[in-house]
Amino acid sequence: MPHHGEDPRTRSDRPWADPARPVEERVAALLDAMTLPELVGQLHQPANVDLERDAALLAAGAIGSTLHASGATAGNVRDGGVSRDRVDDLQRAAIESSRLGIPLLIARDVIHGHRTVAPIPLGQAATFDEQVVHDVAARAALEASADGLTWTFAPMLDVVDDPRWGRVAESFGESPLLTARLGAAAVRGFQASGLVTACAKHYVGYGLSRGGRDYATAEVGEITLRNRHLVPFRAAVDAGVGTVMAAFCDVDGVPMHSHHHLLREVLKGEWGFDGVVVADWNGIGELVEHGVAADLRDAARLAIEAGVDVDMVSGAYAAHLAALVEGGEVDLELVRDAARRVLRLKVRLGLLDPDCASLPGRGDLAGSHGLGLDRALAREAAARSFVVLRNDGMLPLRPRPTDTVLLTGAYTRERASLLGTWVLDGDPEQVSAVAPAVVRALGELAELAELTAGAGDAGGADADGDAVGVVAEPTVRRVLVDDGAFADRTLRLARDADLTVAFVGEHAARSGEDGSTSDVGLPPGQLEVLRGIAALGSRLVVVVLTGRPLALGEVLDLADAVVLAWHPGTEAGEALADVLVRGVPATGRLPMSLPRSVGHLPITHAERPSGRPLPDEARGRGRYIDAPSSAGVPFGAGASALAYGSLTAASGEVTRDGEAVVTLEVTNRSDREVREPVLLFLRDEVAEVTRPVRELVDVQVVTVPAGASVPVTFRVPAHAFGYHGRDHAFRVDPGRVVLTVGWPRADASAVVLDVV
Ligand code: NOJ
Repeated sequence: MPHHGEDPRTRSDRPWADPARPVEERVAALLDAMTLPELVGQLHQPANVDLERDAALLAAGAIGSTLHASGATAGNVRDGGVSRDRVDDLQRAAIESSRLGIPLLIARDVIHGHRTVAPIPLGQAATFDEQVVHDVAARAALEASADGLTWTFAPMLDVVDDPRWGRVAESFGESPLLTARLGAAAVRGFQASGLVTACAKHYVGYGLSRGGRDYATAEVGEITLRNRHLVPFRAAVDAGVGTVMAAFCDVDGVPMHSHHHLLREVLKGEWGFDGVVVADWNGIGELVEHGVAADLRDAARLAIEAGVDVDMVSGAYAAHLAALVEGGEVDLELVRDAARRVLRLKVRLGLLDPDCASLPGRGDLAGSHGLGLDRALAREAAARSFVVLRNDGMLPLRPRPTDTVLLTGAYTRERASLLGTWVLDGDPEQVSAVAPAVVRALGELAELAELTAGAGDAGGADADGDAVGVVAEPTVRRVLVDDGAFADRTLRLARDADLTVAFVGEHAARSGEDGSTSDVGLPPGQLEVLRGIAALGSRLVVVVLTGRPLALGEVLDLADAVVLAWHPGTEAGEALADVLVRGVPATGRLPMSLPRSVGHLPITHAERPSGRPLPDEARGRGRYIDAPSSAGVPFGAGASALAYGSLTAASGEVTRDGEAVVTLEVTNRSDREVREPVLLFLRDEVAEVTRPVRELVDVQVVTVPAGASVPVTFRVPAHAFGYHGRDHAFRVDPGRVVLTVGWPRADASAVVLDVV
């Protein structure tokens, strides 16, 4: 490790190191001190910088940032993990061996937790609760910054309507409004301490990957982009997100890494984004594969001109940018502007401050392991994310003392897969597995109900033991635990069970990046087993662990209760035990419609009306000859403890710069306090362009004591009724809008307002 004695960051001739000076002044001083190769260095982001291999580059100031990642699809392959010591060594080398001593930005995909793992983002979205998302992100950033990380590549803000695309797991679902609200909450959470920058990704259109095929083209016009896909990115920029990642896809033929209009004119121009645009992994190099650049040099030129500031791993900038500037093919000011953005971010994160907590020896954060796990946060987030799709009086489970209960399925003992996709540092050993937790909770029923112990029929093995465990429990005759490895054995056990709880769904490896599927049913074989169990007459509860909305129509028919539990994270087992047995209300709602079949995709609650609407759709007749064309289970569906009164408006009129105030009363019919979302939908009846038949326009998350009635008031600015019209400009039209609360429930009600 090179040492020059004096820490270059504290020398008096370095005004950029003085925290008392304004940010822009510090950045300008630093920029003026830099050579062209040093400017380009700030834009070069290789993966996994190595102290020995990259020593000369670090000393030359030729690396501005690095990401720790196992490779091109880092969410699918775990690496050796990240540690504070390793990060500190890198920062020491960058600071002490280089002329200007500028620290690196150290990036990693901290997506839904670092050590403490919360539900996948799609599960978090099912809470509809900004607070949950904020707190999960803040915890993740706290743990990440304890390891010296300063940049996370989250949140993902792609608006999605096709579950064939494996990356829906990383999304907040199909609603632009929900994605915008939760995305902004995640940005605020990740950036709360000021030590970590978030990254709004993938800008833009990636969620439209044709046919759900990852990396495929996005066919979309600018009106739809602006009214749907750009909405969450604008919200993230308004929430102060530090960085934005370009998407792999092309939009209408223009790859996003070369999209001058959307990057420079919209994001950096219209919206005034002054942060960093980072390429996705080799995204600049892939301009050659897309067929819009002749070679890597050409790709570097296209990307810097379009407004991509940092080159993740392709090496195009490091290899060619200086020569392009010297040859007069790229304006030096483009390079200076990109470097200015990187340096601004570093100053804002305190990396140029002598006492920055992210740097070696300067903070009291010495590795995330010292923090332990926040299990309470993970457990509540998971329990709140579960969506009860059906419950014929089965939940919470109350087996009779004479009952035999069977817990079956591959997930009974699984741990790693319960964490979901994109978990780089979460420890599978720390995951609470399903069967032990549910067995324990069934045992607790004895105390809850003050029952005396029933006849134990212990078979010897416990829930962590053999493939088939028989566990004596005081409230039930027996609990059998079966890992589902042999369908015939499962059916044999189910024959003798009074109640079967089947834990089915897809492995984490079937979701996430490069995890597209051409079918959206349960993985092969599972439905057959469920059919078999149902045919035996056992009462059946099905818990679906998944990274994507699946077509569950037949499962809903077969089972007495169905819980959609996503991939729940570190506290999967305890959270499921809370909802299945301990009576914790599951108040999650679908953030994405469940399709009837793969042939129904893409699908969203916010379809735009055609010229030939379908009056019979509600009765099951749709646009297909062979099936209804509606969703199998629509967006927003899920169990609720609340009865809704009728929606009323404070006034029938709202001015274009005013706000609509609408209220309903909700009554908690359960014997527990509940916290659940109430959703408000909009229909703009006449506009310059077609507007969705309904679209989520506001959410209130309310806490209602047992048995109580409370008013829920929505204050919706008329601005929320606006849209981008034919000229792409935003407008709020006069005319009628319909606001509906309660859809898709039976007790939905609506008010009509005049915008004047
Ligand atoms: C590729 C993915 O598309 C992106 O989401 C991720 O942040 C980067 N790889 C870095 O791992």
